[in-house]
Amino acid sequence: MVNKQLKVVIVGTGYVGLTTGVCLAYLGHRVTCVDVNEKIISELNKGKPTIHEPGMEELMMLARNNLVFSFSLKEAMPEADIVVIAVGTPSKNNGDADISAVERVAEEIGAILNSDSPLVIVNKSTVPIGSARRVETVVKAKLERRNVECNFFVASNPEFLREGAAIRDTLYPDRIVVGFESAQAFNILGQLYNPILKQTFEPPAFIPRPAEYKCPSFIATNPTSAELIKYAANSFLAMKISFINEFAGLAERVGADIKEVAQGIGLDKRIGLDYLQAGLGWGGSCFGKDTRAISYTASQYGYKMELVQSSIDVNYRQRMVAVEKLQRALKVLRGSIIGILGLSFKPNTDDLRDAPSVDIINKLIELGARVRVFDPVAMPNFQRQYKNMAVEYCEDVITLSIDCDALVLVTEWHDFAKIDWGLISRNMRQKIIVDGRNFVKNEELEKIGFNYLGMGRF
Ligand code: UGA
Repeated sequence: MVNKQLKVVIVGTGYVGLTTGVCLAYLGHRVTCVDVNEKIISELNKGKPTIHEPGMEELMMLARNNLVFSFSLKEAMPEADIVVIAVGTPSKNNGDADISAVERVAEEIGAILNSDSPLVIVNKSTVPIGSARRVETVVKAKLERRNVECNFFVASNPEFLREGAAIRDTLYPDRIVVGFESAQAFNILGQLYNPILKQTFEPPAFIPRPAEYKCPSFIATNPTSAELIKYAANSFLAMKISFINEFAGLAERVGADIKEVAQGIGLDKRIGLDYLQAGLGWGGSCFGKDTRAISYTASQYGYKMELVQSSIDVNYRQRMVAVEKLQRALKVLRGSIIGILGLSFKPNTDDLRDAPSVDIINKLIELGARVRVFDPVAMPNFQRQYKNMAVEYCEDVITLSIDCDALVLVTEWHDFAKIDWGLISRNMRQKIIVDGRNFVKNEELEKIGFNYLGMGRF
């Protein structure tokens, strides 16, 4: 198949929407990214990404001739071949995913749609089972009320990109999954992804194609299976992390080293090494939300997802392990000064959603500790979102360490590998470090007198 330029509208400019839009424009499609937030659109129009993502600004620059940002879906939609819905689906209190934003976009599409040429509406947001059908119903109802007949198809196309590696994951995915009921939708999605499926594009210099990379599989299925694939993938990865964290708890009790255990099991190809890093557990906008949502869906069918539920329980228990280690080492936390290294839920992002740092800091404050924090990127976000949290913001690790009784490394930022621990140790009142990600070299720290407390290590 030769590459054909399609007109694509992406609704929602979060991590998924913006990355998808910018990558598709880079691949040669004509893309309009739409968002109701005028401030976001105005920043994007200036060429400034509104998310922290390596390579995004550069790729926006390279793709600029194919890329438009707008806050009007009505202006963007005429002649579109595809509208991709990539708006947020946050958790409701009962764990279910709130798809009201998806429904609002579907209503708007139904109110605007006015053409005979087929339109494919793609659900890219992570949505509960049955949402493709729900979108179809909403659009149809709107068209009926307007007394208009249009040719449209709804497809489900879940996203597997990771924040911080979003462009890489989009351009070089392991697989692309599409769920559809009409062959026309499948054909158009095949055209959309052809440059990725066949890897016909020139890789951007700053995100090269991995040397061993092979073209991705194209998985064609029905919308319900596609929706379930997304939940199953995230639940499995979350479970893998909780699995290794559960073993980490036992490893430190029996005198084993979880890093070596992970290596020892991960080299078995059936298990694999990825997502076996023990630590403070997962955070972010996806694993917590999606595991809760799929548990909720199961409960609606009177079915209990025991493994998923346990993975959730283990994950949130894991965050408190850092506090327990501090209590054991310092005995009294009240009045102690604790320095937190890293706030974002993982490196290379300023995202604080469901970040372990927040629970840990809250607990330390509750126990009477004084908390200092440093993060190379996420501090402005933290200050905005947790205005009332009584923490001291430090401009670097050295300032943070002055008179500290202990440090907790929560996020494994690359910069933390370059810390001058000798200098830090001279600044501290007591030389204690909880390495919540097993990131720093323990021998080096122990040599200069640190009480090094890793996760799942003795
Ligand atoms: C995750 C999935 O990896 C993506 O495939 C998916 O598309 C995305 O959710 C989504 O549903 O949108 P993301 O949340 O960006 O991506 O982050 P990950 O890199 O997967 O990390 C999630 C959390 O797990 C982080 O807090 C990380 O520190 C933690 N983690 C990861 C571990 O604790 N141990 C590991 O071995 C790996």
